[in-house]
Amino acid sequence: MHHRIFITGGAGFIGSNFIRYLMRTHLDTAILNYDKLTYAGNLKNLEDIQAGYDYTFVKGDICDQEAVFQEFHRFAPDIVVNFAAESHVDRSIIDSSEFIRTNIFGVKVLLDAAMKYGAMKFIQISTDEVYGSLGPEGSFAESSPLNPRSPYSASKAGADFLARAYFSTYGLPVTITRSSNNYGPYQFPEKLIPLTILNSLQKKQIPVYGDGLNIRDWIHVDDHCAAIDAVMEKGLAGEIYNIGADNELTNISLVKSIIQRVSALHPGRGISEDLITHVEDRPGHDRRYAIDSARIRRDLSWRPAIGFEEGLSRTIRWYLDHPDWVSSVLNRDYLAYYEMNYGARKKIR
Ligand code: NAD
Ligand code: DAU
Repeated sequence: MHHRIFITGGAGFIGSNFIRYLMRTHLDTAILNYDKLTYAGNLKNLEDIQAGYDYTFVKGDICDQEAVFQEFHRFAPDIVVNFAAESHVDRSIIDSSEFIRTNIFGVKVLLDAAMKYGAMKFIQISTDEVYGSLGPEGSFAESSPLNPRSPYSASKAGADFLARAYFSTYGLPVTITRSSNNYGPYQFPEKLIPLTILNSLQKKQIPVYGDGLNIRDWIHVDDHCAAIDAVMEKGLAGEIYNIGADNELTNISLVKSIIQRVSALHPGRGISEDLITHVEDRPGHDRRYAIDSARIRRDLSWRPAIGFEEGLSRTIRWYLDHPDWVSSVLNRDYLAYYEMNYGARKKIR
């Protein structure tokens, strides 16, 4: 179906993969990618966009109402997909200002723009972190109470409440998606999987928070993109859809498996588990996430297609094959952040 999709945050990890996904699957679609290009936004993530596709990039801040309204007026989208956010928990612990601004106020501006210019669908990309932390049993359903425990997840939960309020109060056709942890190409190296791949390659210590037994539920970014597409085409207004691939792993087992794979690709380089360093825990570190995605599987006939072993191998291969991209993101700003987040962290083992 022909759509005009206003994508925010399309120069980030998931947004850029979503644009690439749309280009493979929706040939008759116009895309406007509106992105502020923060440290996490990178136009190199979109260098392979096919010529001839109806795609426009606009540099802008979702908090800038005048600019957002102008682009909505000009582009007249029928669908909005909001990926734009500050996305890293550790940065939100250091300073939450930008998280509150972008993740809450920015969402208000976008919701107002959708109201004013009549978008037919507003998809708010949320996260399983809004549900908080699980014990050893059970999983998050859409009906689970929200219990965010980091400034990042609190800001995302705030956005979810606001988006739902626009549905209840004004009838704006908002749909919320809550995915588990994504991995895949173009993920910024501050996140656990790329950090472990790149530190292994550089034979740099790999900082594992606390005992390493925290559990995350991993999904390949392409599976997440296919789920968002299903929500775009068939999702109901006012509904929430959890997205997950039933793939829970402790951090330590994940880190060990990455080291093993990188080491196998570089025999004789001495890449080993000795690089693992247990460091002081992330404050308020959620112990376990597990997502129940029965609703989207049942109602929208979506299911994940990429097995974790295969997805992880492909992801490692992608980082090895893209040294220019890697060196562009391991820049001075990133090293300054790295020092701020890890420099003073005590080694515990
Ligand atoms: P990312 O940090 O890689 O990218 C965020 C993008 O948003 C960047 O391109 C950045 O430039 C842009 N941006 C930030 N502030 C902006 C602003 N004020 N105005 C315009 N653009 C702005 O994030 P990601 O990992 O791709 O996550 C995308 C979305 O998915 C986020 O909303 C995040 O909460 C959600 N999410 C992420 C995951 C995950 O595992 N990465 C899982 C579930 C949900
Ligand atoms: O669950 C979805 C969320 O997943 C998204 O909403 C967030 O945007 C995304 O960043 C991610 O959050 P996490 O905090 O789970 O991801 P991160 O990669 O930062 O950490 C994954 C796990 O690894 C977590 O338990 C913390 C741990 N960790 C992380 C880093 C960066 C370490 O042990 N060491 C590290 O250096």
